[in-house]
Order: sequence, then structure tokens, then C-alpha cells
Amino acid sequence: MLCRRTASSLVAYAPAKLNLFLRVVAKRSDGYHEIETVMTAVDLYDTLIFRPSVRDEINLNVRMVEVGSRKSEVGSPESIAPIPTGDDNLVCRAAKLLRQYCGINEGADITLIKRIPSAAGLGGGSSDAAATLAGLNAFWSLGLARKVLCDLACQLGSDVPFFLGPTSTAVCRGRGEIIEPLATKSGMTFVIAKPDSGLSTPAVYKACRPEPEGTDVGPMTQALQRGRPDEVARHLRNDLQSPAERLNEDVVRLACLFREQRVRAHQLSGSGTAYFGVCDSRSQALAIAARLHRRGIPWVSVVQSRC
Ligand code: C5P
Repeated sequence: MLCRRTASSLVAYAPAKLNLFLRVVAKRSDGYHEIETVMTAVDLYDTLIFRPSVRDEINLNVRMVEVGSRKSEVGSPESIAPIPTGDDNLVCRAAKLLRQYCGINEGADITLIKRIPSAAGLGGGSSDAAATLAGLNAFWSLGLARKVLCDLACQLGSDVPFFLGPTSTAVCRGRGEIIEPLATKSGMTFVIAKPDSGLSTPAVYKACRPEPEGTDVGPMTQALQRGRPDEVARHLRNDLQSPAERLNEDVVRLACLFREQRVRAHQLSGSGTAYFGVCDSRSQALAIAARLHRRGIPWVSVVQSRC
């Protein structure tokens, strides 16, 4: 998680994630599913700005990104679903959880600049929550260890601890909260596309059929450690894609459109509806992004993962 201090504020950058591999192993008795997933953070960021508040309150102000503010991104603010700005927002929940844990009454004015679409499987809300925990830990000079922040992160959502991890790629197990950092040898380029419609994570998990058998995460992690995007592409997997396709026709349409593109491989991210392709170069990815946009996909972005 990247943070930067200015004279009167603290700025945190919350990246989106892609699931390169997601195996649903079993349904658990607590309602969650046991999963084995590889997540990688990419350079599509929400920005959070923390400033002192006049009263001891947590105030959240959300701003959607403007059209064309990223050269590699095409889309309109309408293609980002509205997100809650009140106490339902994970940013407010994270700030209040931190205050409660520390028994303090500090306030903060928080501006969230939203670029990551929601209901997309890109982890935007989870990443914002992690950035809030890490950002306010620094802003309020709390000095909490990463382990403590991770324990709080688990209470906010299964994907939140990943964004506090020491590496930008990790194998995540359990319900997603058990993090095994993964050192990778090279970054990769992706094109991501998102239809106007979104999907609810609980609905997609409810419709999935766990597969205890089948290849584990081994070949994917080896490909990443060797820095071989061609092998990574061969081992892409997402068990949530079939249920997502059954629930949402836009996902089926995206899968068809990606089949026509010269990407190495493609699949849904998380529970969708964002869909991504592995590209050989940024110029190739930009050309594909332009083509997808011309074919009517409202939000398309070219991103890079870090090693
Ligand atoms: O943990 P989070 O709040 O993001 O999960 C939202 C919902 O997604 C859960 O309530 C559950 O229905 C489903 N889920 C699941 N198995 C997981 C993660 C999430 O069934 N590993």
C-alpha cells in the first residue's frame, strides 16, 4: 500500500486486483467457501486523501473520476456503478473499526477518488478499506503492526488482508484472508473490460459448484516465480466464471468478444463482471482496448502488474 505525506494531509493509493487463478475448493459451514486464489495488484488506483476534521468525526466525500483522465482508459463516469457514501462504505467502516479497536475518538475528513469500478471483481472496495486502515494508522500515528491491521482487515472482508500484504502478488487461501506472499520475476500487461451491469459476490458464490479435485495453484505460482507470462496465461483459471455466465449475459458476451482478440488468454476477475486478457505488450493492449470500446464495451482499461 503506497502512502505519501503532505504538509496537512496523507494520500494513500489503493490498487485494483486481478485473480489470475481462483479455485473454489469447498463450501464451509460458516457460509463462506474455501478457496485457493492468486491475486495480483495492478496500476489502476483509487486515491484516498486524509485531512484533519474540525470535529472528531469521520466524513467521507466520494468523487468519481472524470472522462479520459487516464490515457489508457476509456469510459464514462456512468459506467462506474454508484457506491455508498455513508456508513455502508467500507472506508467509513474501516475508520470506525480502527477507532473502536484503539479506543480513540480521532476524526478525519476523507476524500475518496474512485477510478476502480464496483461490483466488478477488481477489489476496489476491499482495497479502499485496506488503504484506510494503513493510511489512518499513519495519519493518527497509531503505530499498529501489520499483523494487527490484517486481523482488523479480516473483519471487513475476505479480500481486504491481501491489500495489506508485503508483495503485490500472493496466494490467498481460507476464505481469501490467509496470505502467502509471492515474489514474481516480471510484471505483466492486461486489458480489462467491464460492462455496465455488475454482479453480487454472494450471488455468484451461491451459484458455484465447488471442485475439490483438479490442478492446484502450483503450476501458476511456478510460472509467476519464473517470470513467464506465456505460462501464466496457460494456467489461468476461475471457477466463478461459469456461475457468473449463468447469472449475467454481459459476461458471456465479453467472453465471446475476448475470444476474437489476440490476447494470450482471458477470463473473469473474481466474481465479475470485469473481464481481462493477458497481452504481450502495452501497444497491443491499447489496440485491443480501443477495439473493445468500439464494439460497445463502456469501460476498458490497460493495466500493468508489478513484480
Ligand atoms: O468476505 P466478503 O464480505 O467480501 O464476502 C461477501 C460474501 O461473498 C460472503 O458473505 C459470502 O456469501 C461470499 N463469499 C464466499 N466465500 C468466500 C468469499 C466470499 O462464499 N471465500
